[in-house]
Amino acid sequence: MVMKQLYHFQTANHIISGQNSIQSLAENLHLIGKDIQKALIITSPSLIRLGFVDEVKSQLSNKGIDSRTITGILPEPTVANIEEVYKDPANENYDVFIGLGGGSVLDATKILSILKTNDKSVHELLEPDVIERPGIPTILIPSTSGTGSEVTPNAIVTIPDEELKIGIVSKYFLPDLVFIDPVLTLELPAAITAATGMDAFTHSLESFISNKANPISDTYALDSIRLISSSIVEAYHNGASIAARGKMIIGSMYGGMALTSAGTAAVHALAYPLGGKFNITHGVANSMLLPHVMAFNMDAITGRLSRVAEAMGISEAGDSENAAAERVVSQINKWTKELDIPQNLKKYGVEEIDLQDLAEAAAKVTRLLNNNPKTLSVEDIKNIYRKLLP
Ligand SMILES: NC(=O)c1ccc[n+]([C@@H]2O[C@H](COP(=O)([O-])OP(=O)(O)OC[C@H]3O[C@@H](n4cnc5c(N)ncnc54)[C@H](O)[C@@H]3O)[C@@H](O)[C@H]2O)c1
Ligand SMILES: [Fe+2]
Repeated sequence: MVMKQLYHFQTANHIISGQNSIQSLAENLHLIGKDIQKALIITSPSLIRLGFVDEVKSQLSNKGIDSRTITGILPEPTVANIEEVYKDPANENYDVFIGLGGGSVLDATKILSILKTNDKSVHELLEPDVIERPGIPTILIPSTSGTGSEVTPNAIVTIPDEELKIGIVSKYFLPDLVFIDPVLTLELPAAITAATGMDAFTHSLESFISNKANPISDTYALDSIRLISSSIVEAYHNGASIAARGKMIIGSMYGGMALTSAGTAAVHALAYPLGGKFNITHGVANSMLLPHVMAFNMDAITGRLSRVAEAMGISEAGDSENAAAERVVSQINKWTKELDIPQNLKKYGVEEIDLQDLAEAAAKVTRLLNNNPKTLSVEDIKNIYRKLLP
């Protein structure tokens, strides 16, 4: 395919994927290419409870590697939370940081690794292009099928004072080694399965309709859409299904790969202030916004959405492009009901009077809005939020 625009793709250095792949962690450490004597495991209490941290620790200790575990990272971490947690590794030397958890833990692991080598505070990292050198090596192991953070150069932080979330972007956030193991997600609670799964779907759909979409991102996006569409409902109702969890975790990683090259767009831009100001979790905010932003974009992306309908397996013989595209929006609405994802911002304390501030904050997320196939005015953004205030 000939394209005038250049496009760029980069991903994690090594990816080991498959059921029980976490059990091969120690034997694959040589891929990092450095002598490892001491490791810091960054994780959350749920992963300790499920036994996965012990699994990693015992493999390390069998290899004579010392390890410590910290669990202070909160869901959707704030700048202050990461600064606080950093006090622990700040004065000790580690050869590798192992992030084992959801997107919150993975993003924090990337940032902690960079803090060790760049002589900057987390606050200072919020300025563009200030990360000058690689962090210490990282191993990322996702335990939600959502953010795709294990393969993206992004780390998202919450800034409560400014009621904002910000994405820090650096090629140095890409990890050295990733393990994709669906077994870690078998006990992910249904509500988290739904919200994180819809986040992954949003990454792929937004990448596919992004102004920066390209042949590489399209390949990952469409396959991700195919995998997630055929497994999200099963993973929600029957979490123990390794087949559904397997599709979800690969679909999520592909979503991360697609967005690394094509970027997300207006859904993510509008979701940031909902997270920053009203603490609505990332996946829930995206899921709420997704059908409404796609309906807004519809006339600019009918052809693309008809291809999405095909990948979702919902187009029917004789469908016009319009009819197929409309099916995508209806299917997302159906999922929202079936997966019991809230559709009302009032539940989170949002009122009509808040919409102007929310819309102005979203309009500033130009890094993502520039990828959206249609331009959104502050008024357009308000109208989209208003759809969630029935
Ligand atoms: N870096 C990126 O490219 C990127 C992309 C999208 C979102 N994000 C960010 O990632 C964060 C959200 O991450 P998330 O959606 O994965 O959720 P999360 O990491 O906040 O986890 C949600 C909850 O699930 C629990 N949990 C995680 N894995 C579990 C498991 N296997 N079993 C039981 N409980 C488990 C966690 O402890 C937490 O309480 C947000 O800050 C968001 O902005 C980053
Ligand atoms: Fe996301």
